[in-house]
Amino acid sequence: MAIKVTPLTDAVGAEIEGVDLSRHVDDDAFAQIHRAHLDHGVLLFRGQDITPEQHIAFSGRFGEHEIHVMSQFLLPGHPELLLISSLKNEKGEAIGIEDAGRYWHSDLSYNERPSMGSMLYAMEVPPERGDTSFAGMCAAYDGLPENRKAELGKLRATHHFGYRWNKEAAKWGLRPAMTQAQLDQTPPSVHPMIRTHPETNRKLIFAGGFCSGVIGMDEKEGEAFIEELTAFSTQPEFVYVHKWRAGDLVFWDNRCAMHLASDYDPKYRRHLRRTTLKGEKPY
Ligand code: SIN
Repeated sequence: MAIKVTPLTDAVGAEIEGVDLSRHVDDDAFAQIHRAHLDHGVLLFRGQDITPEQHIAFSGRFGEHEIHVMSQFLLPGHPELLLISSLKNEKGEAIGIEDAGRYWHSDLSYNERPSMGSMLYAMEVPPERGDTSFAGMCAAYDGLPENRKAELGKLRATHHFGYRWNKEAAKWGLRPAMTQAQLDQTPPSVHPMIRTHPETNRKLIFAGGFCSGVIGMDEKEGEAFIEELTAFSTQPEFVYVHKWRAGDLVFWDNRCAMHLASDYDPKYRRHLRRTTLKGEKPY
C-alpha cells in the first residue's frame, strides 16, 4: 500500500494519506506508519470512519492498551476506549471527561511506566475552538542552551494524577471527586526531567501538567520551574495546532510530544474517544 507522509511543521506532526483504517493495514504500510510516528511524534489521518473495534484493533498493533483509572468514562463494553465528550447519558450524567487535557501534558506521565502513545478519534467537533495543540519535546530539548540541558539533566520531577485532577475540577467545575480506590491506584511517580526516547535515542524534555513538584525544590519554586519550562517548550516554533474535523484520528507519541486541548463554547457538542498504550520506565 502506498502511503504519503507530509510533515505538518518542522518540529512535530505529519499527515498520513492513503490509509483507510476501517480496512486491514498491511505489514508494509504499518511499518511506514510506525516509522513516521517515530520521525514526527504526531500523526494525523483525516476522513476516517471507524468503529470502536477497528479503533482498538489498529491501536493494539502498536502495543498493549492501558485502561484509564476514571472507569466511569470508559466506553461501555470497550474499556480500552476513554470518552472525551460533552455528551450526557439519559440520567443527565457526563459520559466522558468533558474538560480533558486543558493543560500541557503527556498522557499518564504519573504512572511508573508512562504511556507510549495515545490515539484520539473525533466523532463530533465544535465549529470553532476545541483544538488540540502538540509540542515536540525533542525539538524543545535541542533548542535549550547547553548549560540548561546540563542543569535539567540532573533534575527529577514528581508526577501525580490526583494533583492535576483536583486543580482542573476547581477550575472548570465539571469533574467528579476521585474515589478512594482511584486515588489508591494513582500514587505519584518520580521521573527524570530529561529522558531518552527508547526507540529513537533522542533526548527530550519530560515534564508537563501532571508534575506536582521538582525533587529538591519547595512547592512554589517547583511549580514556577515547571511553568517556565513548559512556556519554553511550547513556543510556537515547537508546536502544531490541530483544528479537528469529524473523522480525524490523531496518534501521538507521549514519550516525545506534549499536548493541550483548548476549551470551546459549551453550546456545541464535542465527542471523541481515545486509546492509550502502555510505555516504558523513563531513563
Ligand atoms: C487529552 O487526551 O488530553 C484530550 C485531548 C483533547 O480533548 O483534545
